[in-house]
Amino acid sequence: MAFLGIDIGTSGTKTLAVDEKGKILASDTQEYPCYAPKPLWSEQDPDDWWNAVVKSVKNTVKKAKLKPADVKAIGLSGQMHGSVFLDKNGKVIRRAILWNDQRTVAECEEITKRAGGREKLIGMVANPALTGFTAPKILWLRNNEPKNFDKLKKVLLPKDEIRRWLTGEYATEVSDASGMLLLDVAKRNWSAALLGKLDLDIGLFGKVYESEDITGNLTAQAAELLGLTTDCVVVGGAGDCAAGAVGNGIVSEGILSTSVGTSGVMFVHSDEVKIDPLGRVHTFCHAVRGKYHLMGVNLSSGGSLQWFRNALTPELSAIAKSKKIDVYELLTEEAKQTPVGAEGLYFLPYLSGERTPHADPFARGCFIGLTLTHTRGHLVRSIMEGVTFSLRDSLEIFQGLDIPVKQIRASGGGSKSAFWRQIQADVFGQRVVTVNSVEGPAYGVALLAAVGTGAYKNIQEACKAVISTVSETKPNPKAKKIYDAAMPVYQGLYLSLKDDFHKI
Ligand code: XUL
Repeated sequence: MAFLGIDIGTSGTKTLAVDEKGKILASDTQEYPCYAPKPLWSEQDPDDWWNAVVKSVKNTVKKAKLKPADVKAIGLSGQMHGSVFLDKNGKVIRRAILWNDQRTVAECEEITKRAGGREKLIGMVANPALTGFTAPKILWLRNNEPKNFDKLKKVLLPKDEIRRWLTGEYATEVSDASGMLLLDVAKRNWSAALLGKLDLDIGLFGKVYESEDITGNLTAQAAELLGLTTDCVVVGGAGDCAAGAVGNGIVSEGILSTSVGTSGVMFVHSDEVKIDPLGRVHTFCHAVRGKYHLMGVNLSSGGSLQWFRNALTPELSAIAKSKKIDVYELLTEEAKQTPVGAEGLYFLPYLSGERTPHADPFARGCFIGLTLTHTRGHLVRSIMEGVTFSLRDSLEIFQGLDIPVKQIRASGGGSKSAFWRQIQADVFGQRVVTVNSVEGPAYGVALLAAVGTGAYKNIQEACKAVISTVSETKPNPKAKKIYDAAMPVYQGLYLSLKDDFHKI
């Protein structure tokens, strides 16, 4: 018996096969391009996702040596907030607009105004209007491409577009739907109140399921294309943040995950709906039945270090290649030679604008405090520290909302580095652990598929059975003291520079 988790990410689609004990059998990733036709725009072609799904599923099934009937269920995960616009024949109208696209500043203002103000909006959908979310993208289409809007019959999220290809159903699930800014998060269904104010028809959106519920069977055509059977079901799945959290075992109170990938996500489980009245962190439905989560997002975490590597150290890639090591290892070695706090050098990781806590698409990245003493190692260290300060911003907001944080679990590419994990433990002032499951969102939704078909009683039981901690990093009291003193300086820098960012 096997279950597939499919994650439609921004750089590629990953499929993972697990057995009924959660053991990974095989995986495969297929990449595709991202388009930026104008500055701050970010788009993808949904056909690229589907082609990648077909290839990666076939390759995974082959690598795992599975027979068609072995695959009992599929769980879907994907980049959140993206808008797939479909016409009456189910044809894609234009390229999908993605989570990191910043074109909708005017539409966010329009939504807030139509809702009767920011407070009323948060009252209806638990969150303020942010440029990355889906609702402003729909209004952008109406305001800027009226001919396309006239053709619009359905709007789906990226993974839900793949569900349509797989099952023929127009459906979504609570965790991803929360990020559309159209869901009454507390009631776990569409907000008729906000849809009315925005003059959007509820018929544009699919049926909302819980994450582990079965949303349909594979159609005969999809089964044939993928080499599977029509007995294979597709469960709701989850947006990539909730799916990654499930894959990390964040399914009960007191556990928080920090994920350092391109973006950085601080994710905490909550049994009840808790809302930041200032709207700095998101409150979304969790992929755990009836539960919620809060989340803070930094848009350029690992992405900041990747930018540094690509823009400023191209020659290191060749050296790393000749030494057969990762270029990040070379950069980390240089950072290790520099003292905690990078001798007064600060980095603001706002290379793509910022989401938490400032929700400011015009924020910009900076190094501040440079002197002649500073080396490349200092710059690398200050990037890692600045990204981690940005994650601590979210942690402080959670603590202010009385959300218990007893354990921090580090995940994502950036957390593979023991050096960066130590910075995390020191900046957060808490132990940071890692767990045995490192496969991220695809693993989380493969577990949801197992739950949905009865292999486990619920997702908590599944996580308990398969996820355990493998390493622990304790905070160093001396470093913690330095970071505690640096944090208010870091936080003050955005406030001092905000007006200049907007002028720039
Ligand atoms: C979450 C978010 C990103 C994308 C990336 O709110 O925008 O993490 O989901 O895939």
